[in-house]
Amino acid sequence: MEQATVERGAWTSKFGFILAAAGSAVGLGNVWRFPYITAQNGGGAFVLLYLLFVVIIGWPIMIAEFAVGRAAERNPVGAFRVLAPKTIWYIVGGLGVACGVGILSYYSVVAGWTVGYFFKMLLGEFSSKMTPDQAAETFRHFAADPVNAVGYTFLFLGLTAIVVMGGVSQGIERSVKLMMPLLFILLLLLIVRALTLEGAGAGIRFYLKPDFSKISGGTVVMALGQALFSLSLGMGTMMTYGSYLNKKESIITASADVCFYDTLIAVMAGFLIFPTLFAMKIDSTGGPGLVFVVLPAIFHKMFLGQLFGAAFFLLLAIAALTSTISLLEVGVAYLVDERKWRRRSAALVLTLIAAIVSLPSALSFGTLPHLNDLWGLGITFLDLMNILVGNYFLTIGAFLLSVFVGYRWGIQALRREVEQGGRRFYGYRVFAFLIRFVCPVAILMIFAYILATKNYF
Ligand code: PHE
Repeated sequence: MEQATVERGAWTSKFGFILAAAGSAVGLGNVWRFPYITAQNGGGAFVLLYLLFVVIIGWPIMIAEFAVGRAAERNPVGAFRVLAPKTIWYIVGGLGVACGVGILSYYSVVAGWTVGYFFKMLLGEFSSKMTPDQAAETFRHFAADPVNAVGYTFLFLGLTAIVVMGGVSQGIERSVKLMMPLLFILLLLLIVRALTLEGAGAGIRFYLKPDFSKISGGTVVMALGQALFSLSLGMGTMMTYGSYLNKKESIITASADVCFYDTLIAVMAGFLIFPTLFAMKIDSTGGPGLVFVVLPAIFHKMFLGQLFGAAFFLLLAIAALTSTISLLEVGVAYLVDERKWRRRSAALVLTLIAAIVSLPSALSFGTLPHLNDLWGLGITFLDLMNILVGNYFLTIGAFLLSVFVGYRWGIQALRREVEQGGRRFYGYRVFAFLIRFVCPVAILMIFAYILATKNYF
């Protein structure tokens, strides 16, 4: 028993927990995915929709994940086993573990690019005459090179494994306490620089002025998917992190804090990317390469641009690392709790699996014919993973979790968990309404829409 607790671990403080959960939430989703999806979906109106989903779907689902995890004190598979014994609900947890490895596999590719770009910037590899077109070409070249792509991906996976092997408090908590404040400071610095660029105003207008004619069913799907992805919901990450949380702490305020920080950083990232984009007069619908193309082109024009550029990619890499550790931790918790593996072996084996699965994503920007243009749809293998696992699977996971909490485990059971240590759960009627009706119905409607319009990507 003693040994099991040691292998499991726990947060040493509420602050450490919030930083770790916020670290999981804040990642490439905020600085890389949010801006380009906002750009593709018309700007301000998308942002409003996104904010709405964070509050009415993201927050309740996060409360549910924290409560389920902490009530069971287990990984997602074990949590469903404990709370709904002798049922097949544990499969939902299994789906979460698989999603963790799936997202880790392509997320590490993009994270690897950020490390590569950090070095490129630092070494001043971007010449002073770089036009946006040249920047795009440089990126294509970089991403297509198999040695770069695979090498940096593996490097990133290795870093992730090292942190996770260190354990919950000594590895994860200690590293986020260092990285999160650094990330915040770097972001602030860069925003000040972006806002003072000539022509920044047009970017701000695009970002903040809602144009509701741009909202279609597809926009709604993307906004919900983005909210879940960005908050790390729908696959048991927050359940796992919640399982290490002390019973004394308030799940309601902790989840509100995490939602707030995540949204804050995403909104702030917009204030960095859009002014920069418009100041450079680049087409704003850049896709996944957006930050890798736009930002290098602008940094060289700045005073100390090389340094700002390096700082930016360092920021992205840090944000990504605090997320990849949470993706890996889900599967590690499963192997440690349910299969009694040692933490180190669990981390190592899962990282190896993620490394193998990452290969088609890492190589999908090169010349391999099938990976860079699947079925002639113009999407790469990495795009496919991003949409399939990062959007659909998370949405399905969130749906199943809301049904589980709303109808199987029950609102009263959740309330008891939230009220541990003599707290009151004031908004629980509102919560019950959101988790039982709003979340599942909204998600079902979205899927019905996708099926009806066959607008899958
Ligand atoms: N939330 C992370 C981000 O925004 C990605 C993530 C998704 C992490 C799901 C864990 C689980 O980058």
